[in-house]
Amino acid sequence: MTFAPVNVHAQSASLPAPAAIQRGERLFSGQTSFTYGGPACIGCHSVGGLSFPNGGTLGPDLTQVAVRMGDEGIQSALKTLYFPAMVPLYKTRPLTPDEQQDVAAFLHHAQASAPPAVTPQVAAIGAAIFLLFVLIAWRAGRGRLRGVRRRLVETARAAAAAPKIAEGDPR
Ligand code: HEC
Repeated sequence: MTFAPVNVHAQSASLPAPAAIQRGERLFSGQTSFTYGGPACIGCHSVGGLSFPNGGTLGPDLTQVAVRMGDEGIQSALKTLYFPAMVPLYKTRPLTPDEQQDVAAFLHHAQASAPPAVTPQVAAIGAAIFLLFVLIAWRAGRGRLRGVRRRLVETARAAAAAPKIAEGDPR
């Protein structure tokens, strides 16, 4: 996998960028805790590069956020975390400058390496669940029809009380 250098801010002489991406991913996904105790981003956000199920859905998917906001936008977004839904959580628990850079590196990397938002696995699981429901509905419907038919046949038999009909009926 080729990696384009992040940006000047996210690079530091002592820290190669891939390590920053990795740290950013761990912070984003909650494998590493934020220094000031802010909640992991994955609780509300998804990013295409993370393993299934890709995270929460309360906040927008951040896979392409670096494209949308630009690296500068990401930098200031992570500094302030001013989005209405996030302010109460991060106002007293900001990310340290290092953490901001690591998460920015991860988000920058995410847009470069992102699979499509609906991955084949997700599509396959969706299709399988759909088919299962169709199958269940079909079986339930078939059973009910058969029950209705059996009852009709029984009623007819009782009403006619004629052995001829019973002979003609395969049951
Ligand atoms: C409590 C849920 C929650 C958590 C946790 C959370 N966010 Fe958010 N975030 C949101 C919501 C909801 C929005 C949409 C804007 C709004 O309503 O505030 C958002 C918006 C954003 C945006 C702007 C996206 C856009 O397309 O404009 C960025 C960037 C972002 N969050 C990054 C993060 C990062 C990085 C973290 C982890 C440090 C994080 N968020 C943690 C809920 C959350």
